[in-house]
Amino acid sequence: MDTINKKPKMKGIILSGGTATRLFPLTATTSKQLLPVYDRQMIFYPLNTLVKAGIKEILMIVAPEHSGQYLNLLGSVFKTHGIHLYFEVQKIPRGLADAFILGESFIGRSNVTMILGDNIFEDDFSDDIKNFVSGGKIFAKKVTDWQRFGIVKFDENKKAIEIVEKPKEWISDFAIPGLYIYDKHVSSAAKEVVPSERGEIEITSLHNYYLEKNELEVGVVEGAWLDAGTFDTLLEAGNIVKEKKLSEKFDPLINQAIAEFNEELKILAKKKLS
Ligand code: DAU
Repeated sequence: MDTINKKPKMKGIILSGGTATRLFPLTATTSKQLLPVYDRQMIFYPLNTLVKAGIKEILMIVAPEHSGQYLNLLGSVFKTHGIHLYFEVQKIPRGLADAFILGESFIGRSNVTMILGDNIFEDDFSDDIKNFVSGGKIFAKKVTDWQRFGIVKFDENKKAIEIVEKPKEWISDFAIPGLYIYDKHVSSAAKEVVPSERGEIEITSLHNYYLEKNELEVGVVEGAWLDAGTFDTLLEAGNIVKEKKLSEKFDPLINQAIAEFNEELKILAKKKLS
């Protein structure tokens, strides 16, 4: 058997911890990523992006105070559908790159796609994820509020030349959304990241690690992208999901799992009443 040229397996991570102070008091009682976006919890949107791309092993990274809620919602619904969810607690929100340190043994020798639990995408990234071989692949989307994001600057040949986390001075209008595809070297690279001024190990340092090695590809996000981290973007996310009927475009497997979970809840509610 030829194992030398075999493409590594692709695993998934959903980073769904953090404190979400911008959404207080909503997030005083639950995790931001468990808040509703139209007709389902926010977490199902990033989960759908990974499942649609054929990823079957997914690590959920959650904050300790919400781990029970995630287990109740997701702990059993997917196991009959061939999707294996694993759970890891991030005690302190040390930064996005921490996901690859916490997930080191989960990733092993595989490639990994990480998505942020509060990022909702209209696009289907199946081809990017399935065709990925090595190095890193991130995406760019034009925005007006460049101060809020990791930003990438391109040269005249559309080659990425500079990446900065929340730049103080304008460098470009292209934000880097929360979907990142990396090879197995990402965990050792994450361990070398020095905390930034805001005390976090930044994902931007990992993009720069691959950029400096000339191994970073930057794709484009064509459809809607929402980082549902504020009251306004949370509302906008619900409206866009409804308008574009995004739930109907979900992988059927996810919709089926949600429907089964709803049935289970109804049966349990009836039992309690009788
Ligand atoms: O949304 C895309 C942006 O996400 C990127 O353009 C930036 O490069 C990236 O740094 C990130 O910026 P944010 O300021 O939006 O990151 P935030 O702190 O809001 O965290 C993003 C998500 O990750 C959020 O759902 C909370 C979760 N998180 C965050 C940190 C720092 C964790 O689970 N653990 C953490 O340690």
